[in-house]
Amino acid sequence: MYDFAADPALPKPELYRELVAATDALTVGERDAVANMANVAALLWQWVPGLNWAGFYRAIEGELVLGPFCGKPACIRIPFGQGVCGTAAASGESQRVADVHAFRGHIACDADSRSELVVPVKRDGMVIAVIDLDAPSPGRFEADDQAGIEALARLLAGRI
Ligand code: SME
Repeated sequence: MYDFAADPALPKPELYRELVAATDALTVGERDAVANMANVAALLWQWVPGLNWAGFYRAIEGELVLGPFCGKPACIRIPFGQGVCGTAAASGESQRVADVHAFRGHIACDADSRSELVVPVKRDGMVIAVIDLDAPSPGRFEADDQAGIEALARLLAGRI
Protein backbone atom coordinates (compact mmCIF):
# COMPACT_ATOMS: atom_id res chain seq x y z
CA MET A 1 0.00 0.00 0.00
CA TYR A 2 1.19 3.49 -0.78
CA ASP A 3 -0.06 6.30 1.36
CA PHE A 4 1.35 9.51 -0.02
CA ALA A 5 -0.60 12.44 1.39
CA ALA A 6 -0.83 15.86 -0.20
CA ASP A 7 -1.41 19.06 1.76
CA PRO A 8 -3.31 21.34 -0.64
CA ALA A 9 -2.52 24.31 1.63
CA LEU A 10 1.20 24.13 0.78
CA PRO A 11 2.61 26.93 -1.39
CA LYS A 12 2.94 25.65 -4.95
CA PRO A 13 6.76 25.36 -5.05
CA GLU A 14 6.68 23.14 -1.95
CA LEU A 15 3.70 21.14 -3.19
CA TYR A 16 5.57 20.33 -6.38
CA ARG A 17 8.82 19.57 -4.53
CA GLU A 18 6.89 17.01 -2.48
CA LEU A 19 5.17 15.68 -5.60
CA VAL A 20 8.53 15.14 -7.28
CA ALA A 21 9.87 13.42 -4.13
CA ALA A 22 6.80 11.15 -3.97
CA THR A 23 7.19 10.35 -7.67
CA ASP A 24 10.83 9.49 -7.13
CA ALA A 25 9.90 7.13 -4.28
CA LEU A 26 7.08 5.53 -6.30
CA THR A 27 9.04 4.93 -9.49
CA VAL A 28 12.59 4.19 -8.35
CA GLY A 29 13.67 0.71 -9.35
CA GLU A 30 10.58 0.08 -11.50
CA ARG A 31 11.39 -0.39 -15.20
CA ASP A 32 7.85 -0.64 -16.54
CA ALA A 33 6.92 2.70 -18.14
CA VAL A 34 3.15 2.07 -18.10
CA ALA A 35 3.18 1.24 -14.39
CA ASN A 36 5.17 4.38 -13.62
CA MET A 37 2.96 6.66 -15.78
CA ALA A 38 -0.18 5.16 -14.22
CA ASN A 39 1.03 5.85 -10.69
CA VAL A 40 2.15 9.37 -11.59
CA ALA A 41 -1.21 10.15 -13.23
CA ALA A 42 -2.89 9.05 -9.98
CA LEU A 43 -0.49 11.20 -7.92
CA LEU A 44 -1.14 14.26 -10.09
CA TRP A 45 -4.89 13.72 -9.76
CA GLN A 46 -4.60 13.35 -5.99
CA TRP A 47 -2.16 16.21 -5.36
CA VAL A 48 -2.82 18.99 -7.86
CA PRO A 49 -6.11 20.71 -7.01
CA GLY A 50 -8.66 21.89 -9.56
CA LEU A 51 -8.04 19.45 -12.45
CA ASN A 52 -10.52 17.67 -14.71
CA TRP A 53 -7.86 15.62 -16.58
CA ALA A 54 -4.26 14.60 -15.80
CA GLY A 55 -2.12 12.18 -17.72
CA PHE A 56 0.27 11.24 -20.49
CA TYR A 57 0.52 11.06 -24.24
CA ARG A 58 3.48 9.05 -25.57
CA ALA A 59 5.43 9.93 -28.73
CA ILE A 60 5.18 6.89 -31.02
CA GLU A 61 6.25 6.96 -34.69
CA GLY A 62 5.66 10.68 -35.13
CA GLU A 63 2.36 11.02 -33.31
CA LEU A 64 1.11 11.22 -29.75
CA VAL A 65 -0.76 8.19 -28.42
CA LEU A 66 -2.86 8.28 -25.27
CA GLY A 67 -1.15 6.93 -22.16
CA PRO A 68 -2.23 6.44 -18.55
CA PHE A 69 -4.46 9.22 -17.20
CA CYS A 70 -7.22 10.19 -14.76
CA GLY A 71 -10.33 11.91 -16.06
CA LYS A 72 -12.83 11.30 -18.84
CA PRO A 73 -11.93 9.16 -21.87
CA ALA A 74 -9.86 11.24 -24.29
CA CYS A 75 -8.70 11.44 -27.93
CA ILE A 76 -6.39 8.52 -28.62
CA ARG A 77 -4.03 9.86 -31.30
CA ILE A 78 -2.81 13.45 -31.81
CA PRO A 79 -0.44 14.30 -34.70
CA PHE A 80 2.70 16.27 -33.78
CA GLY A 81 1.94 19.96 -34.33
CA GLN A 82 -1.79 19.67 -33.65
CA GLY A 83 -3.60 20.90 -30.56
CA VAL A 84 -1.90 21.99 -27.38
CA CYS A 85 -0.28 18.58 -26.85
CA GLY A 86 0.97 18.27 -30.43
CA THR A 87 2.37 21.81 -30.28
CA ALA A 88 4.33 20.96 -27.11
CA ALA A 89 5.61 17.74 -28.71
CA ALA A 90 6.63 19.39 -31.99
CA SER A 91 8.30 22.42 -30.39
CA GLY A 92 9.75 20.68 -27.35
CA GLU A 93 8.44 23.64 -25.32
CA SER A 94 5.88 23.66 -22.52
CA GLN A 95 2.50 25.12 -23.47
CA ARG A 96 0.64 27.01 -20.72
CA VAL A 97 -2.75 28.07 -22.08
CA ALA A 98 -4.92 30.34 -19.94
CA ASP A 99 -7.98 30.01 -22.20
CA VAL A 100 -8.15 26.98 -24.45
CA HIS A 101 -10.94 28.58 -26.50
CA ALA A 102 -8.42 31.20 -27.63
CA PHE A 103 -5.79 28.59 -28.66
CA ARG A 104 -6.03 27.97 -32.39
CA GLY A 105 -6.35 24.24 -33.00
CA HIS A 106 -7.10 23.26 -29.42
CA ILE A 107 -8.54 19.72 -29.36
CA ALA A 108 -11.54 19.53 -27.03
CA CYS A 109 -11.48 16.09 -25.39
CA ASP A 110 -13.51 17.22 -22.40
CA ALA A 111 -15.92 20.13 -22.86
CA ASP A 112 -15.25 21.15 -19.23
CA SER A 113 -11.61 22.09 -19.96
CA ARG A 114 -10.91 25.82 -19.93
CA SER A 115 -7.16 25.99 -19.29
CA GLU A 116 -4.33 23.58 -20.00
CA LEU A 117 -0.66 22.92 -19.22
CA VAL A 118 1.34 20.55 -21.42
CA VAL A 119 4.98 19.77 -20.61
CA PRO A 120 7.22 17.62 -22.83
CA VAL A 121 9.27 14.80 -21.35
CA LYS A 122 12.60 14.64 -23.21
CA ARG A 123 15.27 11.96 -23.26
CA ASP A 124 18.55 12.59 -25.10
CA GLY A 125 16.96 15.71 -26.62
CA MET A 126 13.96 13.80 -28.03
CA VAL A 127 10.38 14.27 -26.87
CA ILE A 128 9.28 10.82 -25.63
CA ALA A 129 5.96 11.88 -24.04
CA VAL A 130 4.00 14.87 -22.80
CA ILE A 131 2.35 15.44 -19.43
CA ASP A 132 -1.08 17.03 -19.95
CA LEU A 133 -3.08 18.78 -17.22
CA ASP A 134 -6.55 20.28 -17.89
CA ALA A 135 -8.60 22.47 -15.58
CA PRO A 136 -12.23 23.62 -15.73
CA SER A 137 -11.33 27.18 -14.67
CA PRO A 138 -9.58 29.67 -16.97
CA GLY A 139 -6.05 30.71 -15.99
CA ARG A 140 -5.65 27.81 -13.56
CA PHE A 141 -1.96 27.27 -14.33
CA GLU A 142 0.74 29.70 -13.22
CA ALA A 143 4.51 29.83 -13.70
CA ASP A 144 4.92 27.83 -10.46
CA ASP A 145 2.75 25.01 -11.86
CA GLN A 146 4.80 24.96 -15.06
CA ALA A 147 8.12 24.91 -13.13
CA GLY A 148 6.83 22.10 -10.91
CA ILE A 149 5.64 19.92 -13.78
CA GLU A 150 8.87 20.60 -15.70
CA ALA A 151 10.82 19.28 -12.67
CA LEU A 152 8.58 16.21 -12.70
CA ALA A 153 9.23 15.73 -16.43
CA ARG A 154 13.01 15.84 -15.87
CA LEU A 155 12.74 13.08 -13.26
CA LEU A 156 10.41 10.99 -15.45
CA ALA A 157 12.75 11.15 -18.45
CA GLY A 158 14.64 8.21 -16.95
CA ARG A 159 11.62 6.37 -15.57
CA ILE A 160 9.18 5.99 -18.48
N1 SME B 1 -6.68 19.45 -25.35
C1 SME B 1 -5.58 18.66 -25.83
C2 SME B 1 -6.05 17.27 -26.20
C3 SME B 1 -5.86 16.28 -25.11
S1 SME B 1 -7.01 16.38 -23.91
O1 SME B 1 -7.01 17.71 -23.29
C4 SME B 1 -6.86 15.21 -22.78
C5 SME B 1 -4.94 19.32 -27.03
O2 SME B 1 -5.44 20.33 -27.54
O3 SME B 1 -3.93 18.80 -27.48
